[in-house]
Amino acid sequence: MITADIIVDLQYGDCAKGKVAHHLSRTREYTHVLRYNGGCNAGHTIFHEGQKFVTHHLPAGLFFGTTSIIGPGCVLDPMQFMKEIGELEAGGVKTEGKIFIAENTHVITDAHKEEDGATGEALGTTKRGNGPAYRDKYARSGVRANEIPELKPYLIDIYDAFHGDKDVQILCEGAQGFGLDIDWGDYPYVTSSHCTVAGALLNGIPFQAVNEVWGVAKVYETYAGKRGFEISNDAVFEKIADAGEEYGATTGRRRGCGWINMDLLERSTKMNGLTHVVLSKVDVLREVDEWKVREKGEEIDLKTEEGMKAYLLEHFEKWGVSPDNVRFSEHKDKI
Ligand code: IMP
Ligand code: MG
Repeated sequence: MITADIIVDLQYGDCAKGKVAHHLSRTREYTHVLRYNGGCNAGHTIFHEGQKFVTHHLPAGLFFGTTSIIGPGCVLDPMQFMKEIGELEAGGVKTEGKIFIAENTHVITDAHKEEDGATGEALGTTKRGNGPAYRDKYARSGVRANEIPELKPYLIDIYDAFHGDKDVQILCEGAQGFGLDIDWGDYPYVTSSHCTVAGALLNGIPFQAVNEVWGVAKVYETYAGKRGFEISNDAVFEKIADAGEEYGATTGRRRGCGWINMDLLERSTKMNGLTHVVLSKVDVLREVDEWKVREKGEEIDLKTEEGMKAYLLEHFEKWGVSPDNVRFSEHKDKI
């Protein structure tokens, strides 16, 4: 038997997917964590036993001791991968026999990084070679992990891992978010992979296996990139960015902040078929004590924390998610 819970980001990434992964791994039993999309453009900041770790490739699940797999929906920078393993080991996190790469995962080469470094500015990419690596994959001229000798000890066949004799319970941990999705995001200001439930299924998971789908959003919105961003540099958003520590883990860039976009949430909730929702960073809005949302281009002032929570619960219920399955979380609760 194969079952899977999937975590998706409903906005532009950075909504605290790692925290949800942590919560789920403590409350459910998983045999595997699967990172299902993206490259080292993503950044996880993890506080583990008093130490801070920043990872780009390694899923948060690895910190909880669960066998972790980087799936073929991802692109992998071998140097970055080895570097992160070294950092975790140095910090006392055991990785041996716990981290694997699907043998058909494509690799980010030096040439991909150089190209993205030279041309990524126009789109505001993270310059980690993500776009060129996916382009070459689809152009059928890419390099796969099984062609890189250093990666040999980590390689596995996803089919054997998920469809062998043993029961598997998989937690699917994604990168980026719906607004950055190659098909549903603000093209061309998007990443080059699939940031939806479908993106998780592409990694050898049959749809019947899907158990829960957890959508994660902040109670406000952030964005880093070159697309126009409606609201910026207002004093309130400066304060939100500071309180929310809205700096990219990969690039160090300060993220633009705005009110939560209900239209984006409606699309991402319906298209992902969510069963559960986590709305993060409520304590950050409490710092400014402004409770606003954007809906159909209008700004709506909900005045109080209670008013905003009720509004959000009501909308998620309308979009098919029971209020019992919607949680609010706080930035100060580190993992
Ligand atoms: P790329 O994925 O590096 O090609 O960048 C394309 C767009 O996705 C840019 O706007 C990046 O800022 C954005 N992006 C990529 N990864 C992340 C992430 O992990 N969090 C937030 N934005 C991201
Ligand atoms: Mg991040």
